[in-house]
This record gives sequence, structure tokens and C-alpha cells, in this order.
Amino acid sequence: MNNILVTGGCGFIGTVFIRYLLSDSDFKGRIINVDKLTYAGNPDNLADIEKAYPERYRFIKSDICDPEAMSFAFKTYDIDAVCNFAAESHVDRSIAAPNAFIKTNIEGTFNLLEVARKYADRLVLFHHVSTDEVYGSLAYNGFFTEDTPYKPSSPYSASKAASDHLVRAYSKTYALPVTISNCSNNYGPYQFPEKLIPLMILNALENKPLPVYGDGRNIRDWLFVTDHCRAVWEIMKRGRRGQTYNIGGHCEKANIDTVNGVCEMVDELKPRADHTSRKDLITFIKDRPGHDLRYAIDCSKLEKELDWTPIESFETGLRKTIQWYLDNPLWVQRVKSGNYRNWIKQHYEDA
Ligand code: NAD
Ligand code: DAU
Repeated sequence: MNNILVTGGCGFIGTVFIRYLLSDSDFKGRIINVDKLTYAGNPDNLADIEKAYPERYRFIKSDICDPEAMSFAFKTYDIDAVCNFAAESHVDRSIAAPNAFIKTNIEGTFNLLEVARKYADRLVLFHHVSTDEVYGSLAYNGFFTEDTPYKPSSPYSASKAASDHLVRAYSKTYALPVTISNCSNNYGPYQFPEKLIPLMILNALENKPLPVYGDGRNIRDWLFVTDHCRAVWEIMKRGRRGQTYNIGGHCEKANIDTVNGVCEMVDELKPRADHTSRKDLITFIKDRPGHDLRYAIDCSKLEKELDWTPIESFETGLRKTIQWYLDNPLWVQRVKSGNYRNWIKQHYEDA
């Protein structure tokens, strides 16, 4: 893999993946980052990378649904591998307005596959980044394996399930070299503050209510984002073509325990003047429609075949995450303010 097309590289996980590949891995080639810069895409995340690696990093503001733009990228940069992160990623938004999810997650993936097929003679790998939510919901026992039947609950997870099926179909029908990864909930630096952990961190710091859906007993399996990126890279290098790999954190937590954990660590790292706990901000609110009860990943296939295991514990990962949000107030301010949209407009409208 010499020229990897990373899609959605200005989002949360894509940013960390690009930083990991260029600074902390054995990858020696070039990355072409294609991102449409939706509300969740932030080119500022990689501004230092753009300066540090002028020969090895290129950014193209483009939509994965655009066939001409994707063909142009493949042709111009001799793309021989794809890592597809680009997606609409937030479940609540998919419930409120599913259209963009169908467009980007299904049509966008389809378009990328078609372009990849056109350049199949030089394609080494199409890696598709997906989610454990395609498997639906677990009761209080059992784990998702790679053989668990798909049973998505939300428009988001249904759109990701459709994209996974398309990738598998292109592997079987056209012999496209593909791998797919289905990962559990990520947290870490650069995550947009609509997702549970960064929302709770920032609200806690601002003394705003901490909204917990339903009774807070829903369970998620948390993984620090760098551990996810390391797993994706191992799969890209050594994963068997045509295969799916589950990625998880061995870290199941009820949401209320996660929120209590965030409060305790924010209290430790940035105590209130009166030393009371932020737990007094926790507010139980109306549940999410179709809210999956529990996700828990069996990632033994990845561990056995590729010798991967998570490095960060929830304690160490959460500490790094909270410290990052404390150390980056400008990032937070830009992401939360209209100024940030204007900044993108100025810098990238005509890119
Ligand atoms: P994110 O919302 O933070 O970032 C998505 C990125 O994709 C943004 O930069 C956005 O601008 C870009 N994008 C959206 N539509 C596009 C389009 N049409 N063309 C080009 N770029 C477009 O998402 P994330 O949390 O970083 O998730 C990345 C991928 O990982 C997604 O495919 C998601 O389904 C998957 N995933 C996420 C998690 C998680 O916990 N966040 C867990 C498992 C899998
Ligand atoms: O499992 C992987 C998935 O994890 C990814 O595919 C998705 O892209 C990612 O968004 C995430 O989906 P979730 O719906 O699990 O994440 P979210 O952060 O939205 O919510 C986590 C849990 O916390 C969920 O049970 C809903 C609950 N929640 C969420 C928010 C935003 C609350 O209780 N209050 C909140 O304000």
C-alpha cells in the first residue's frame, strides 16, 4: 500500500487514524484524505500534519458520493488502497433526519466501490470501517461475533449494515480485495461533542445538565480511539481478504456508570471551587426511540489472528481524553461556534 485514500479523515476516528499512520506506525507511503467537511469534519485537526508531511499528506474537499471527484482522486494519486471512514455517524441525528445517512453511508460506499472496481487492476485493498450496531441489541448475556446475524435498529445502523453488505457483495461478485471491521463505541481526543463522553465532559466543565437517556442502564463496550486505529491498520496489513473482524474494548459499562466515571475524573482534574461533585448535574431524560440495550464484542478472531489487544484501560483512556479537552479550549470553542463554520468557508470553499 503506497497511496491510501482515507475518506472522512477530518472526522474523529479518521483524524486519529491519519495521525497514527503518519507519525506512529510502519507506514511509509502517502495518504490522500477525502472529506466533504460536514458539521463533523474539521480540517484544523490535521493542520500540523499538513505542514509536517507535505510529501506524504494531501487533503481534498470532496463528497464520496461524487463519481467524477472520486475517479479524479484515484487517477491523480495512483490510489492502491482505500480506508473508508466517511459516514454520517450519530444515531440521534439519523432518527431526526435519515436522508443524509442513506445518501452518504449507502450511496457513498456504493460509489467508492464502483470507482475502486474501475481501478481494480492496481487495488490492493478496500477496507470498510463499520460498527457493532449492525448486529442490533444484546440482552444481558452473550457477545457479538462475526457470525451474528445483522439486525440493525436505527436508520444509522441500517445504513451501515447496507454498506457492509455492498462491500461483501463486491468481494464475492467482482473479487475486489476487501476487509471489513465492526467496532464498538470509541472515545478519545477530537470526538465531536454530540457523542456521550465528550458531551458529558464539556457539559460537566460548564456546569450544564448531563442528560442520561431512560434509566441509564443501557450498556456500551468502550474502546480508546487509538486502539481502534491500531486494529484497523493491522487488519489492513495482515487481515485475510474477504473477511470481517470485530473490534472491541472488553470494557462494558452501563451509561450511568460511564457518566459517573466522567464526573469523578473531571472533579479530580478540574475541581469545582467548592469541591462538590458534578454528579449533581445528572438528569434522566426521555429515552432514545429504538434504544439498543447492550453492545458487547467478542474480538477473539482479531486477537488470535492478528495478535491485537487494547492497550488503554477505561481509566487511562478517559484521563487522556479529559486532559485533551482541558488542553484544547480553542478546538472546543471553534467546534461549538458558528465562527468555525465561517473558518471552513474561508479556507476550503474553493479547494
Ligand atoms: P465523524 O462523524 O466524527 O466523522 C465523519 C467524517 O466523515 C467527517 O469528517 C465528515 O465530514 C465526513 N463525511 C461525511 N459525509 C461525507 C461524504 N459524503 N463525503 C466525504 N466525507 C464525508 O465519525 P467517526 O466517529 O469518526 O466515525 C468514522 C467511521 O467509523 C464511521 O464510518 C462510523 O460508522 C464508524 N464507527 C464509529 C464508531 C464511533 O464510536 N464513533 C464506532 C464504530 C464505527
Ligand atoms: O457502537 C458503535 C457506535 O457507537 C458507532 O457506530 C456510532 O457512530 C457512535 O455514535 C456510537 O453510537 P451510540 O449511539 O452508542 O453512541 P452515543 O454516544 O450517541 O450514545 C452512547 C450511549 O449513551 C447510548 O446508549 C445513548 C446514551 N446517551 C447518549 C447521549 C448523546 C445518553 O444517555 N445521553 C446522551 O446525551
